[in-house]
Amino acid sequence: MVDVILGLQWGDEGKGKIADYLTPQYDIVARFQGGPNAGHSLEFEGKKFVLNTIPSGIFHKSTLNLIGNGVVIDPVRLKEEIARIAAECPDYADRLLISLKAHIILPTHRILDAASENAKGENKIGSTLRGIGPTYRDKTGRAGIRVGDLLATDFKEKYEQTKNAHLKQIHFLEFSDFDLAAEEIKFFEAVDFLKTHKLINSEYFINKAITDGKKILAEGAQGSMLDIEFGTYPYVTSSVTLAGGVCSGLGIAPKHIGKVYGIFKAYCTRVGSGPFPTELENEIGEDLRRIGNEFGATTGRRRRCGWLDMVALRYTCMLNGVDELIMMKSDVMNAMPQIEAAVAYKVDGVETDEVPANLCTSDVAPIYKQFDGWAEDLPHDLGYDALNANFKSYVSFIEQSLNTPVKVISLGPERHKTIMR
Ligand code: GDP
Ligand code: IMO
Ligand code: MG
Repeated sequence: MVDVILGLQWGDEGKGKIADYLTPQYDIVARFQGGPNAGHSLEFEGKKFVLNTIPSGIFHKSTLNLIGNGVVIDPVRLKEEIARIAAECPDYADRLLISLKAHIILPTHRILDAASENAKGENKIGSTLRGIGPTYRDKTGRAGIRVGDLLATDFKEKYEQTKNAHLKQIHFLEFSDFDLAAEEIKFFEAVDFLKTHKLINSEYFINKAITDGKKILAEGAQGSMLDIEFGTYPYVTSSVTLAGGVCSGLGIAPKHIGKVYGIFKAYCTRVGSGPFPTELENEIGEDLRRIGNEFGATTGRRRRCGWLDMVALRYTCMLNGVDELIMMKSDVMNAMPQIEAAVAYKVDGVETDEVPANLCTSDVAPIYKQFDGWAEDLPHDLGYDALNANFKSYVSFIEQSLNTPVKVISLGPERHKTIMR
């Protein structure tokens, strides 16, 4: 069976922390989409790591970690990432498997990302500039380079062709702020390094693991509201971030999908451009950012903050078929006397509990419900029953609105600050 953990908001819900926390229950942790646009933070035993491409099961010695075919890999970033974990995980290479069908982010994909954003001016997506969009564009345009291609004798030729096609586009976009020669030196070093790893036919591997009764956790990146199909298009990422993406991103049949864990923050954040109905551009938003340390794990960018949006959450629970909820970062609101959550929208003056088809061009005003805050520190080590009554009624409200149980509550960035109900 393949259980899934994925973000229900605009990313950065805490997927890394919880995937790591759940890993002891699994034999394999697998990434199925996204790439180094992801930044998944893990904290344990006084140590802190940010993972971009490597699955969050890597710190558990008996778990295998798969970078699936649906992921896009930047060899340069992956090499840097491995350097950050190598001391903690000297045996990492035995437990890290990489799909031969995963697509490669080239230096010119990154430059194209910057060139496209630059050309968009005011309408820029707020991309992480990791080359994600251009790499997926080449994948669907049938012009990409895959991990398996790195091993072929004509790799250099293919690389040159692809690079030259990119350079034409970059020139057309009138972008010249880059040093490709320096990037290429790092790239080819990193490609050689990548080739020393376990590069596998991952769809056979994962299906055999399923047949052998192994337990697999598919770890999502980004969030459901950034999904290419159902997110706030065009302000989205370029992959399917939903549970549906697990099948194509790993090569498994729908019948093998088990439990879907949906993870959300007790409030809401978004980094980059695009609509965010419950955004708080005031002191409360500032407090959430400061107390929640809401700055990008990969890019350091300041995250926009706002109240919980039940309309969006209901939508993403529906799209993913969420079985169990995981609620993060309530501790950030410990000092708030009052909190709010959007329960419906007024779209162009008409009340609705649905996300409009084009959130970007609709005039959306959230309708809020108020809650008394819990106004005290929530203990993470006494179990759920010991928690403050106001907090528990906030949790019950969420469970009832989404008709789904909250099974895990996280009250701090560290692995142990987690309550399992
Ligand atoms: P991911 O991309 O979904 O893995 O999330 P990120 O790592 O980008 O962002 C989540 C941030 O919140 C990280 O800095 C985590 O260390 C931190 N974090 C996770 N859970 C909690 C929590 O329950 N409380 C607090 N205060 N911080 C948390
Ligand atoms: P994790 O896995 C939050 C956002 C970017 C931008 C948009 C498109 O850590 O939750 P891209 O680089 O994919 O072309 O950017 O998506 N974005 C994320 N926001 N968390 C992420 O990943 C994100 N990955 C991409 O900020 O708005
Ligand atoms: Mg993140």
